[in-house]
Amino acid sequence: MTDLQEREKTEILRVANISKTYDLGGRMPWSRGPGSTLTALDGVDLDLRSGEILALVGESGSGKSTLAKILVGSLAPTTGSLDWDAPTDSQRGRHAARRVQMVFQDPYSSLNPRLSVRAMLSELLLLHRIVPRSGVTAECLRLLNQVGLDADALDAYPSQFSGGQRQRLAIARALAVRPDVLIADEPVSALDVSVQATILDLFATLQKELGLSILFIAHNLAVVQHLSQRVAVMYLGRIVEVADTAELFSNPRHPYTRALIDSIPRMNPGSRNSKPIIDGEPPSPFDVPAGCRFSPRCAFASEECTVVDPHLTAVATDHSAACIKSVALPSIAPTGDQKENQ
Ligand SMILES: Nc1ncnc2c1ncn2[C@@H]1O[C@H](COP(=O)(O)OP(=O)(O)OP(=O)(O)O)[C@@H](O)[C@H]1O
Ligand SMILES: [Mg+2]
Repeated sequence: MTDLQEREKTEILRVANISKTYDLGGRMPWSRGPGSTLTALDGVDLDLRSGEILALVGESGSGKSTLAKILVGSLAPTTGSLDWDAPTDSQRGRHAARRVQMVFQDPYSSLNPRLSVRAMLSELLLLHRIVPRSGVTAECLRLLNQVGLDADALDAYPSQFSGGQRQRLAIARALAVRPDVLIADEPVSALDVSVQATILDLFATLQKELGLSILFIAHNLAVVQHLSQRVAVMYLGRIVEVADTAELFSNPRHPYTRALIDSIPRMNPGSRNSKPIIDGEPPSPFDVPAGCRFSPRCAFASEECTVVDPHLTAVATDHSAACIKSVALPSIAPTGDQKENQ
């Protein structure tokens, strides 16, 4: 293994056995009694490796944002632990707050409309003592350049920018404090399709030029196929498959991942799919199905699947899946994209 490959495999962030439940007993008319606990995350293990883009993909309500908030430190898990590579516990809070930054889906609501770009960036640069006061303007211009905005942007306000430009601003704000890790929660879902590709390119450039490690959350696989090195697939609060991106697309070992791949040709990258990806009732987080939680919607499920709760298990090098039939699943036909490359 080369030095680069070795470095790429170093974990920069890890969560082990993270769960998050919300007890809504009495607060919701439908949630009284035994079904009043909502399980948002259930025993999630995940590592982000240094310098990689790891995609986290799953349908609405699967727990992606909940996991993102736990990783960034803005939400406490109900159980489980979070490991940064900070040397001591006491350094963890302060250190983590700066080194893990988040970019949200809606850049407009995440930017303060009353602050000019200069004011927004200067405040952060001075607060975190990134540069001395005399160097603030130069640093603001460097950040704008890094995200593909020109110098005129410095004295403008968020309302004066287009959606894509606002997302660039939100990225500049995240980069201002020189983070090691960027967590991007559906950062292109609210943008026009034509703009999405340019923002995806920016993430790829930042990874290459700054060596940033990025957790990139998306609704569908099409968005991340050419961006991420690895993909983690979430279903109802669990990671059900993790693999290198090429391996995941060519050899998916979980029926849910297969359904996500099958749905790609009828989706525009980044768009919310108007047709459901899979048949069957979407699962309720108040009442997680017994056995495999995907079994009620799974085309391959047997009696055993309604009893055995599968956990992530290695199926190949750097590839794990949570399905008792993972090895026996038939191979899939190549996607349109893969056919073109053949
Ligand atoms: N503060 C909260 N109180 C109660 N339930 C919550 C809260 N936050 C999230 N949930 C529930 O937790 C589950 C996971 O939500 P989460 O927002 O993490 O999903 P998601 O995968 O990000 O979905 P989306 O793709 O729609 O953004 C959902 O069932 C959601 O309703
Ligand atoms: Mg979300």
